[in-house]
Amino acid sequence: MVRKVVTVLLGLCLGGAGLAVWQLGRAEARIDPANPRLVELGRPLYVKHCAQCHGANLEGEADWQTRKPNGELPAPPHDASGHTWHHANEQLFALIKHGVARFAPPGYKTAMPGYVGVLSDSEIRAVLSYIQSTWPQEIRDRRAAMEQN
Ligand code: HEC
Repeated sequence: MVRKVVTVLLGLCLGGAGLAVWQLGRAEARIDPANPRLVELGRPLYVKHCAQCHGANLEGEADWQTRKPNGELPAPPHDASGHTWHHANEQLFALIKHGVARFAPPGYKTAMPGYVGVLSDSEIRAVLSYIQSTWPQEIRDRRAAMEQN
């Protein structure tokens, strides 16, 4: 009897965990700056993995449009002053997942690494949700229209 109850309880717990993971997967399968949970998930990931180059306040490196003596561009800002918001979500996702070199001409020098094996796909989407949550509503509206085309 006790064993049966334990088995049933265990089954319920595992079922619950499975459901939670499934819901988590679903909720994070998109980039959504209006979802506070995603934004709060993305913020510490940004601080840990991106802020050292792109700046604690997403301001980028100083003089970010001028190449450095070693041929690399400084890290651009991710706030509304940069051009990150001009890119479609899937493009941004791919740039972060695979790094800039993968999409640049051969020999292109870049400091932007890829995050395969470091951040999961849903973590990358959470970071992007956080970044986009800092953009003014006007930009977010323009992007929403762009993503629908
Ligand atoms: C070691 C420094 C460094 C780190 C760490 C870094 N980046 Fe970058 N990132 C760059 C540089 C430099 C560029 C400019 C690309 C180039 O070389 O043309 C860039 C470009 C980008 C772009 C393209 C921006 C645009 O406006 O076209 C995105 C998006 C981006 N980074 C996101 C991230 C995210 C998100 C993280 C953290 C997960 C991150 N980066 C971590 C240096 C870095």
